[in-house]
Order: sequence, then structure tokens, then C-alpha cells
Amino acid sequence: MSNSTDALTVTDNRTGTSYEIPITDDTIRATDLRQIKVQESDFGMMTYDPAFMNTASCRSAITFLDGDLGILRYRGYPIEQLAESSNFLEVGSLLLKGELPNQADYGAWVEDIKAHQFVHENLRQFFRGFRHDAHPMLMTMSAMAALGTLYQDFDIESPESQYEQIVRIIAKIPTLGAWAYRVSNGMPLVYPDNDRGYTENFLVMLNQSGSRPYEPDPRLVRALDVLFILHADHEQNCSTSAVRSVGSSQVDPYSAVTAGLAALYGPLHGGANEAVLKMLRRIGTADNIPAFIEGVKEGKERLMGFGHRVYKNFDPRATIIKKACDEVFEVTGVNPLLSIAVELEKIALEDEYFVKRKLYPNVDFYSGLIYEAMGLPAEMFTVLFAIGRTPGWVAQWHEMINDKEQKISRPRQIYVGPGERDYVDIASR
Ligand code: SDX
Repeated sequence: MSNSTDALTVTDNRTGTSYEIPITDDTIRATDLRQIKVQESDFGMMTYDPAFMNTASCRSAITFLDGDLGILRYRGYPIEQLAESSNFLEVGSLLLKGELPNQADYGAWVEDIKAHQFVHENLRQFFRGFRHDAHPMLMTMSAMAALGTLYQDFDIESPESQYEQIVRIIAKIPTLGAWAYRVSNGMPLVYPDNDRGYTENFLVMLNQSGSRPYEPDPRLVRALDVLFILHADHEQNCSTSAVRSVGSSQVDPYSAVTAGLAALYGPLHGGANEAVLKMLRRIGTADNIPAFIEGVKEGKERLMGFGHRVYKNFDPRATIIKKACDEVFEVTGVNPLLSIAVELEKIALEDEYFVKRKLYPNVDFYSGLIYEAMGLPAEMFTVLFAIGRTPGWVAQWHEMINDKEQKISRPRQIYVGPGERDYVDIASR
């Protein structure tokens, strides 16, 4: 048995047989373990990795994370530089196409997006069907699926058809999100204004009411555009994995993105920003923080906005968002919950419970304070996260459907149920 350097040599002590498992990119292929058997008729060895704590599901060139060093790069560009110098639509083009666009390509991309911001009139009726208290994320998720009914001529084999759906999804999700907000507030649905920028247009659609024109402060537009950049992609997080897994069946991208919206809505994922604000409101004053922290340690509470599967020192996005708070509060006035958040962070960062578990503020800890300061209700926070994450979802979907290594996603299991047994008639049970 020649021990190649780029391989694992493993010995199955049950049989004494040794196997060479090739190492590529510091990983081994799980299917290479199938050769490890006791009986020739065995299925062969599998890996067991609940919640995919240590499993690479794909090769991707879109986003790079280093959880120990707190590094986040989109197509190699550090998030700090993109937040400082780029804009959300430019980042969307970078995520999808892999390069920063030149002026002409950027202009064409923006025009493509503008051309698709309107939503079919049928969806206005669709939105009218929701109850007034329907959660905006559930409305947005439903509307994304409904959007797919309007474009059933999608051809997954056609690059042009793929691009057309991608542009439609990026272009329309702010309109869907704004309509969800307006239905929640009993406001008439308004149309996008193609003469405005993408993020500015979203803020106007949220706030425009009656004859009173709404002109958003450019500083708030810029702050929200940066927040969208920070949320744009994050490698194989829960919602992106959902988009990839559902998309691997070759379903249309509206259905795949609907799956991403559903996953993001969970409080452990994108729903955390809404949960953070409700947590801060519940704490109410700095005096209540010690009791709350005790509740966390006793397992009665979770410190929402803290902790991350990958980042174990700090979330680089949280650092940038905390800075953005100051810029927004210059316009809106300081959110009174900020002092509680800062004190909570300070206490948690010094407390052994959190230090031992490497729990630090994540992207959701401060973002809600900005959204609330902008006058948005907590129920809209995850919709904002979804608008930011949409370019990442569709870029990852596009990469997956064009990746020759990918097949339909179908994990196996360890069966722990009963062995074979005979049916018993109900009268005898
Ligand atoms: C996002 O994956 C991504 O990239 C996601 C995201 C993206 O951009 O897509 O970054 C966006 O979802 C950010 C995370 C938002 N969620 C929250 O803020 C919810 C609160 N945080 C957690 O529930 C938790 O930290 C997770 C879900 C984020 C990560 O969970 P893990 O990696 O599965 O860790 P775990 O639940 O196994 O926790 C390890 C330990 C446990 O304690 P022990 O059992 O070892 O005693 O840490 C504890 C947990 O109880 N713990 C927390 C905690 N998070 C983990 N304890 C208190 N408060 C917390 N927030």
C-alpha cells in the first residue's frame, strides 16, 4: 500500500483492511468511504454530520469566509472595501458575474433591473387577499412563489432564460417587500419609480403616502444600501443551502428563492434581527441586563444576535453595522435601545459563559436598531435581510445549476426505527 502524501490511510479495525482516501482541497469525498465494508454486500461507510457542521456541499467561487480571522470577501473583495466604496446593485453584479462591472456593463445591468421592477397587476389582487396582520415575511414569501406563476416559460437550459429570471427576482423583491409592508399598514399599493435608485426607490415605496411626497434623506439611503451589501451573500448558510437544495431538482428559481425566504424567516437565522429588537424591548433597562444574562445561562433565554456557526471571534459585518448606527442616528436621533445593546454586548463579552462558547455579536445584533430608527417595524426587519440576500441566493442558484458536479440533493440517513414486522389488524391491537 503506497502512502501518497495527499491521502488518508485509514484502517478498519473490524477487518484489519487499510484504505487510501485521496485528499483534495483539504477534504475527502464522502463517497470514497463507501469502499469501507465488512461484508462485500454492505452499502459501505457513510459520514454522519447532523446540521452539516463539518461538510462541504459544493465548490463555490462566490464568497469566502474565515471564521477565526473574521474575514468575509465577495469574489475576493473584502466586505470592508465593498461597504466603503461600492453600491448594492454593483455588488449584485459582482456576485453573479464574478467581476466588478465596467461603466457600460454596470449601466446595462442597472437598466435591466429597472426594466423589471414593476410587478404584474395580478399580484396586487394577490396581496389584497392577506389578512391585515399577516407577517410581511410570509406575504413576501407567498408573493415570490406567486411570481413564478407569471413566468412558467422558464427554460433552465437557456442562459438567457436563467438571466431573465435572475434580473426579475432582484428587481421585484423590493416591490414585494414594500407591498407587504403597505398591506400590513392598510396603505394603498404604490408603483416603483424607475427614475430613482434601487434602494432609494424601496424607501419611497415604503413611506410614500397620499399626496405627501416622500424624499428619503440620502444618508439613510446610503446606510440601507450598505446594509444590503453586508447581507448580500454568506456562502452556504441555512437559506442559501435551501435555495441550492430545492434548486437542485431543476425547479424554477422563484420556487427555489421561496425556499430561501422560508429558511431565512426562522429566528435562528434571518429572523434573529426581529428577535433582537423584541429582546431589547423586553429587557427594557440596563438594570434588567444581569437577570436576563442569568436567564440565558440557565437556558431559559437565548441572547439573540449573538453567536455564529462560522465566526468564532467577531462577525466583520457587525463591526461595520455598529459604525453605520452612528451615521443613521445623526439623522434619526439615537435609538434609546442602543445603550441597552451596547451594555449587553459589553457584559456578554466579559462573561465566561459567552467567552467559552465563542459567542460574539453577529450581523443581526445591531441591524435592527438601524431599521427601527428608520421607522420600520420589527416585522419588516427580515424582509430587509431578504432583499439584501437575494442577489446572493440567485448567484448561488446560478452557480449550482451550471456546476457539472452537482446533482439533485439527496442525503442518506442512519435508520434507527424498528426492524421488519407484520401488519396487525386493528381489532387485534
Ligand atoms: C445568521 O450561517 C450564516 O452565515 C448565517 C448568517 C448569514 O449571513 O446567512 O450569518 C445570518 O443567521 C446569523 C445568526 C442569527 N441567529 C441568532 O442570532 C440566534 C441566536 N444565535 C444562535 O441560536 C446560534 O448562535 C446560531 C444558530 C447562530 C449558531 O448556532 P450553532 O453554531 O449551532 O451553535 P449551537 O447552537 O450548537 O451553540 C453552541 C453553544 C450551545 O451551548 P452548549 O450546549 O454548548 O452549553 O452555544 C450556546 C448553545 O446553547 N449558544 C448560545 C447562543 N448561541 C449559541 N447561548 C445563548 N445565546 C446564544 N445566542
